Amino acid sequence: MNVGVDYYPEHWDVSLWEQDARQMQEAGITLVRLAEFAWSRLEPTEGNFDFEWLDQAIAVLARHGIEVVIGTPTATPPVWLTHHYPDVLPVDNKGNAMFAGVRLHRCYNSPSLRKFGKRIIEQITRRYAAHPAVIGWQTDNELAANDCHCENCTRLFRGWLQKKYESLETLNHAWGTVVWSGEYSDWEQVNTPLGGSPHLNPSFLLDFRRFSSNAVADFNRFQAALIRENSPGKFVTHNLWGYPVTADYYDMFDSMDFASVDYYPATDFLDDSKSKMYHGALTLDLARGVKRQNFWVMEQLSGTPGCWYPMSRTPFPGMIRAYAWQSVSRGADTIVQFRWRSARIGAEQFWHGLLDHHGQPGRRFDEFVQFSREARKLAPLLEGTTLKHDVAMLFSHEQLNAFQIQPQADGFDYLGNFKRFHSAFLRMGVGVDVINWREDFHGYKLVVAPMLYLIDDAIAGKLKGYVENGGTLVLTTRSGVKNMDNVCLPDRLPNLLTDLAGVYVDEYDPVGKDVQTLILATGEELASSQWCDILTPLTAETVATYASEYFAGEAAVTRNAFGHGAVYYIGTVLDERASQVLMKRIAGVAGIDFELELPDGVEVSIRSSEERRLVFVLNLSREPKEVPLPARNYVSALSDRRIPGESIKLGPGGVEILVEVNSTVTASA
Ligand code: GAL
Ligand code: ZN
Repeated sequence: MNVGVDYYPEHWDVSLWEQDARQMQEAGITLVRLAEFAWSRLEPTEGNFDFEWLDQAIAVLARHGIEVVIGTPTATPPVWLTHHYPDVLPVDNKGNAMFAGVRLHRCYNSPSLRKFGKRIIEQITRRYAAHPAVIGWQTDNELAANDCHCENCTRLFRGWLQKKYESLETLNHAWGTVVWSGEYSDWEQVNTPLGGSPHLNPSFLLDFRRFSSNAVADFNRFQAALIRENSPGKFVTHNLWGYPVTADYYDMFDSMDFASVDYYPATDFLDDSKSKMYHGALTLDLARGVKRQNFWVMEQLSGTPGCWYPMSRTPFPGMIRAYAWQSVSRGADTIVQFRWRSARIGAEQFWHGLLDHHGQPGRRFDEFVQFSREARKLAPLLEGTTLKHDVAMLFSHEQLNAFQIQPQADGFDYLGNFKRFHSAFLRMGVGVDVINWREDFHGYKLVVAPMLYLIDDAIAGKLKGYVENGGTLVLTTRSGVKNMDNVCLPDRLPNLLTDLAGVYVDEYDPVGKDVQTLILATGEELASSQWCDILTPLTAETVATYASEYFAGEAAVTRNAFGHGAVYYIGTVLDERASQVLMKRIAGVAGIDFELELPDGVEVSIRSSEERRLVFVLNLSREPKEVPLPARNYVSALSDRRIPGESIKLGPGGVEILVEVNSTVTASA
């Protein structure tokens, strides 16, 4: 367990470095990430390199026992580069080149970016390959799929399509270009989706998103290979930006040793427009699922976020510590706070760090120091622990992209709907692994595969095999709608999944924001919206029926016994409470242990190893909470006090980390 900060020595007078490093050391910081935007300082003019300042900065940090992760600076091509080699700049769908001056102004397919990127990466990795304080590398910064329409991207997109479809005839057929006379008769006619209309052919749009996603994954592989060649033995990671994103993170991280995530939970609890960007627990579970292993947080919230929009509320007392522990509770092994000092210069002056512009420690800093002290104490206990779960949720960037291209109904949102299931388990204190839908899931007791809109025989076959062997599967509405070319399938929904679900969709109604009522056999009423499939059970039994509108009395949720397992089909989008009621019931039948009903804003998760189990209990709300706990004997790993179990009280932002007494030796002081 390491605690660090993001630091920009090049933004500060050299005379401050020593003081900064000393203060970092006193705060328990053992790691700094740096240089990820410093290309113009590392190569001030073409081919003239200057590493002396970085040598010196690393030396100062190393003298204070601080190790370093260096970021390759490719997210910010310097002015000389874009000026002399304009192919570096991405081109938008109207044919206009992006202006330099902010950041991320680079096309991954630009030959100049590759050429000069390769050289700066070689230079920097060779220079620090043997440096004992440099422990690893971060590629670029928050890579995202570009929507680039430059000449190079156009040429490569054509090549990508030629490889995929071989002939134009196949492409025309796969995309259905006959509609609106869109048929191509020469490869030269095929462009990237220019003009930006959302009504372009959806198959074309999805393939372009795949191409763009491939391009960024390829760019990451290009960097990883260069780093490994020149700095063997050191790790390579990348800091992903939160979801939702076009780029397929599973693909983008295949060249990385582990995943890192930048985690900025919302501080404006009441302003949904801002808090929507962040999905706390789900983001962290997705990050753990990228490589199906523990991860790092490369940027962790440290102060008032701002500059991209009016400033948000400052993290309320307890929040910096609580969210850092939340990251650890969901699998982070290293926490790097963004950033050490708040910038006095440049665009991000108001994205606050641990220290304000005046540089004097204050409340937020003290809270971080508390976390850092606690992290040091718990490091030996955390060593070798990870999260192990009986429930998996299958996540798919393909579905996310397809739904973004064709939103299905008013309010229908892939990630938002996905989150309802995830939160339902969270409220029961049941941990979930969120994994790539293409990966192996046979070992789980319960698999939730929401909205499998695009489908092929491979996934249908895997799901069948899983259930035949005794698994419990949850399928939902908007499944089996299309093939992987984003073309509607010809049979009744859910098409390739009809057998398995034992039910078909007779008719559907995209009800949008019109709230519908459902009734369970117990008489309990539930609510749903967005979409209603009117179901005809074949072999399935009905679990819930609609009780509103013209489809009252028709099946809304079914359960089908299949092989040794069972399949639930949820034909509508349940609201939060309904998701909880149904998931609780399904989890019970699937043999998932759950003993909790957690209050709003409270999370419980467990990191374990062969030797021990650590139960994290977090109150991420602004009110005091009483949290029920399974009646066992616990010792607090933070305070070493015995906790009798049954329930504990946590103040706003309260954190407790419990060691089950019979599971380990007590916390080492
Ligand atoms: C991240 C980014 C950082 C910084 C931070 C605050 O997304 O990686 O460089 O910009 O946001 O805005
Ligand atoms: Zn391009």
